Amino acid sequence: MSAPPDPPQSVAAPGFAAVDVIRSKRDGGELSDAQIDWVIDAYTRGDVAEEQMSALLMAIFLNGMQPREIASWTAAMIASGIRLDLSSVGRPTVDKHSTGGVGDKISLPLAPLVAACGAAVPQLSGRGLGHTGGTLDKMESISGWRATLEPDEMIAQLASVGAVICAASAELAPADRKLYALRDVTSTVESIPMISASIMSKKIAEGTGALVLDVKVGAGAFMKNRDRAAELARTMVGLGAAHGVRTSALITDMSTPLGRAVGNAVEVAESLEILAGGGPADVRELTLALAREMVSLAGLDVDPERVLDSGAAMDVWKAMVAAQGGDPAAPLPVPQHTHQVLAEADGVVCDVDALAVGTAAWRLGAGRARKEDPVQYAAGLLCHVAPGTAVRAGEVLFELHTDTQERFPAALETLSSALLFAAPGETVVPRASIVLDVIR
Ligand code: URA
Repeated sequence: MSAPPDPPQSVAAPGFAAVDVIRSKRDGGELSDAQIDWVIDAYTRGDVAEEQMSALLMAIFLNGMQPREIASWTAAMIASGIRLDLSSVGRPTVDKHSTGGVGDKISLPLAPLVAACGAAVPQLSGRGLGHTGGTLDKMESISGWRATLEPDEMIAQLASVGAVICAASAELAPADRKLYALRDVTSTVESIPMISASIMSKKIAEGTGALVLDVKVGAGAFMKNRDRAAELARTMVGLGAAHGVRTSALITDMSTPLGRAVGNAVEVAESLEILAGGGPADVRELTLALAREMVSLAGLDVDPERVLDSGAAMDVWKAMVAAQGGDPAAPLPVPQHTHQVLAEADGVVCDVDALAVGTAAWRLGAGRARKEDPVQYAAGLLCHVAPGTAVRAGEVLFELHTDTQERFPAALETLSSALLFAAPGETVVPRASIVLDVIR
């Protein structure tokens, strides 16, 4: 009988004691590259306990990291899994990543639009957690559509259709999968080093040649002010450049929801309006701004607005959905119950709180509280007002959708504080532009 194989060895020798690594960061020190390589590798393999990594995450959250440490942490997360090679696709590859917001359905029209411009878009996406929705949950409201593709299938679809929206393979940056779940339950998500390393490790491992980041700022975003958003954007752009991925970032407003629709099927319907040349002005503006940046980074000389209005992006959308088993002509799910919120008096809306609207959609069943919860595809809401909208008593402010009538009271309670009306004589300035800054 042959001898049993040797147990797997750490590739990140030498070994350290987790407690020393934690103490070093707790006391405001810098972690060495070797310490970082070791702790990421050992945690991914299960050799560093969850409580030790929790303590380290909190120490990083409180004391931050130097740029060298962030670069090293990102590189170690990339090295925890496979790195895709998209060189066989035959077109320039460019992806987009948003830091997450309310009503953010931009990936749906953007991926086919940029593909119709001549690039290949490997849009690896996630599911929603809490008040921000997930692209995969929205796409799964399309009958038959499949989120999971093998890397070979994804690469083949990129070559044939030019766009793919699918779940990231479990083999891409597996360290991030574990770390993100732990950050979520230890209140350590909103850390610039950790968000940067999390996003960029996945995007670099996915193999894209270029990347445009949509860094959201405002009530419905992780970053509540412009300075923090700019710091996050600069950190991620630097990480991309260091790994040979041409990267730029748009800082965009997330103080109020994007578009009118917030939820799953309702956001697919709004995306189809954009692909058909219509839709809310802010969704069209952001889709085109991101598309222009992506096309430019991909080295293509094409005007995305002309491509959108030609109908070519809609053709790619249909091909992309069909390639993943979906029926682009199938009707979208309709809710079993709807409820309208009406204006009690005349007035001018001066603020729509994105966080409150996102939370209401989540309470209606559009999102999940725990990773394993199901979502309702027909759940969500339509927001008929934006800052600057003048309403008359009796007009519809919100239309709520759910399959579970008992969900209405909690959602209505959240929405009761979502709108702010201007005082008599107060001038309301509507949002000028959704794009606040570009960092290259
Ligand atoms: N999105 C990610 O992928 N990671 C984060 O840490 C935050 C947003």
